[in-house]
Amino acid sequence: MEGTGLFPARAECLEVGCGNARLAVLVVDGFRPQRYVATDVDARQLSAAGHVVRQRYPEGRPAALELRPADMLGLDFPDTSFDVVLAFVTIHHASPRHEDFLPVPRALSEIDRVLRPGGLLFYSEIFHHERIREWLAHRGYALASVQRRLRVESVAARKPGGPSPGPA
Ligand SMILES: C[S@@+](CC[C@H](N)C(=O)[O-])C[C@H]1O[C@@H](n2cnc3c(N)ncnc32)[C@H](O)[C@@H]1O
Repeated sequence: MEGTGLFPARAECLEVGCGNARLAVLVVDGFRPQRYVATDVDARQLSAAGHVVRQRYPEGRPAALELRPADMLGLDFPDTSFDVVLAFVTIHHASPRHEDFLPVPRALSEIDRVLRPGGLLFYSEIFHHERIREWLAHRGYALASVQRRLRVESVAARKPGGPSPGPA
């Protein structure tokens, strides 16, 4: 997200593979989304996330921030229910063997399914850089920002559709 200036106001957001939620609290504090559902498949990660959230907000978690279990290979959310999906160094975990791209499109399809038309996917990855970008481009996503720092590629991609921009 760094430097993109793309984050929509009052967004409903889903983060997949939130880990200990250290990034979730930064996004919640920095962008004040309407809703931020931080999810992970691993109960131990969600427990660590609960700890981080309690430390960050000793007087109570912001109403916008939810912590929930979810598997990115089968997201338990309705179609087109989020304006923004975030996945930080998580998509390659679609495969237990991280270098194996084969299961990754299933995770990408789930992310695509829950994103609204015109919605934004923010992700960072250390594997499959080109193949993920190709998958997105093939489905009409516009790559709004691609940044590389060492092994980590950070991308903001906009799903096709959504309201057309008004007159200038
Ligand atoms: C490298 S960690 C990144 C954590 C966090 N996003 C960060 O940047 O600090 C990858 C995370 O993906 C989670 N994960 C692995 N497989 C997953 C799946 N199928 N669905 C959702 N999360 C998954 C792991 O439990 C772990 O928390």
